[in-house]
Amino acid sequence: MKVLVSDSLSEEGVSKLQEHFDVDVSTGLSEDELVEKIVDFDALVIRSGTQVTRRVIEAADNLKIVGRAGVGVDNIDIDAATEKGIIVVNAPEGNMLSAAEHTIAMMMSMARNIPQANASLKAKKWERKNFMGVEVNGKTLGVIGLGRIGAEVAKRAQGMEMDILAYDPFITEDRAKAMGVELTTVDDIAKRADFITVHTPLTKETRNILDTAQFDMMKSSSRVINCARGGIINEEALADALKAGKITGAAIDVFTSEPPFDCPFIGLDNVIVTPHLGASTEEAQVNVAVSVAEEIISVLNGGSARNT
Ligand code: NAD
Ligand code: MLT
Repeated sequence: MKVLVSDSLSEEGVSKLQEHFDVDVSTGLSEDELVEKIVDFDALVIRSGTQVTRRVIEAADNLKIVGRAGVGVDNIDIDAATEKGIIVVNAPEGNMLSAAEHTIAMMMSMARNIPQANASLKAKKWERKNFMGVEVNGKTLGVIGLGRIGAEVAKRAQGMEMDILAYDPFITEDRAKAMGVELTTVDDIAKRADFITVHTPLTKETRNILDTAQFDMMKSSSRVINCARGGIINEEALADALKAGKITGAAIDVFTSEPPFDCPFIGLDNVIVTPHLGASTEEAQVNVAVSVAEEIISVLNGGSARNT
């Protein structure tokens, strides 16, 4: 059987697949190239770079499974895959700690202006007064989406003595209580939190969950973080809020269009950005690659998948 790996995948995952199948690693394919190439393959392994569109699925006459080495499956046309009986699996746990740690790193970098201060000193300036920060100790963190990553972020923030508010319609009061978290609404978080971080999937309910109305409710000292998916925070509204001083800062890892060179807030001084690095650790990339390889080996050998 033949497996196509169309985004860079850790060597541990590739060699696991090679023990069982004929593996072709071809990254950076255009949609047309992928449509032409996919015809013979039994499995496709991707990260976030490859768009598995309806055209790709329709051309994939032998395809039985698409494996996403990561969490989000928003780059796969799930309806088209389902119509054709193609299984879609992801790796929901392998990168959650890396994404949670990146979120904390972004929050701390923003609280202490580390990227701006680093750039300033490297430009041979000594501008200590410009980079006055804030402590996170005793501050309130609002977590929108208290799933795998949101819960790990909350736990780490509690370790820094932060109080946690959360909004997640699928989390029970009992679970929140056990985590030491107060469940509330998005608007209440907007009014009360000092830092707000989003950790939901991008759906029609979560798109623009932080929008102009919420920025209008925030304290002028508020700071927001998005290490989940571009579009959960409305990018235009965020740019307006930052320019108008309605909030103090933002730390953003994910964008509605990547790379985000036309993004409306990318050049603002009170924004720090990273190029979708949440899962970019050695550990996470091995975890997700091995997890997806195991799923593909199981399914192509007639077994079942765990993470459909
Ligand atoms: P998860 O499924 O474990 O958790 C998502 C949570 O969002 C769930 O608890 C769910 O109940 C909640 N939710 C769903 N709809 C909601 C709504 N309307 N309002 C509030 N909460 C809602 O997912 P996860 O593994 O924690 O991933 C969270 C996000 O992080 C995803 O978007 C994922 O793609 C993204 N992610 C990004 C990176 C990165 O590199 N930046 C890395 C990993 C994951
Ligand atoms: C994910 O959804 O797992 C992340 O966005 C990370 C990635 O795409 O590698």
